[in-house]
Amino acid sequence: MLDNLFDIRGKIALVTGGSRGIGEMIAAGFLANGAKVYISSRKVDACVATAARLQETYGGECIAIPANLADVEGCQQLAAALGERETRLDILINNAGVSWGAPLDEFPELGWDKVMNTNVKGVFFFNPEVITVTPRLGHRREPGASGQYWFDRWHQKSGF
Ligand SMILES: NC(=O)c1ccc[n+]([C@@H]2O[C@H](COP(=O)([O-])OP(=O)(O)OC[C@H]3O[C@@H](n4cnc5c(N)ncnc54)[C@H](OP(=O)(O)O)[C@@H]3O)[C@@H](O)[C@H]2O)c1
Repeated sequence: MLDNLFDIRGKIALVTGGSRGIGEMIAAGFLANGAKVYISSRKVDACVATAARLQETYGGECIAIPANLADVEGCQQLAAALGERETRLDILINNAGVSWGAPLDEFPELGWDKVMNTNVKGVFFFNPEVITVTPRLGHRREPGASGQYWFDRWHQKSGF
């Protein structure tokens, strides 16, 4: 039973910011438990290398789709690329993010914009994009990490 406790075989997951750090660890955990995992980040080489390393280490399928999620165009590109490959997404981890450390009275506008664009704007615009191309994000009985709200919205609008 313990072997099956975290079994997610057959599930499709996307981890934004999956090329390193916490996102890479989440992607590794999903792969180790049987999911097909997409990872995304800005730096193409790092994203591709991490996907290859994770797949080599944990088996299964790990696919890199690099994109800049701090702007709307990047959000649309990632959603479209995912939609070309999949008709559903079971798990979405909105992990891509940045921080900027500075004293309050020295905090630059550039730092504010970088943090807000990546951590707030990107998530706000990416989630509706991804639900448009892969409408089945999560399910009432097994909601994705942030999928329940969007599933309900899509369900209400489509009547499906
Ligand atoms: N580590 C902590 O103690 C801590 C604490 C609280 C919250 N968090 C949050 O947890 C998340 C992961 O943290 P972490 O420490 O693992 O961060 P990290 O090591 O800096 O990794 C961040 C990931 O996000 C990607 N990324 C950054 N900007 C992006 C953008 N504009 N578009 C797409 N991908 C982007 C990075 O790749 P590229 O640079 O190639 O794009 C990388 O894959 C972040 O949202 C962070 O704010 C972390």
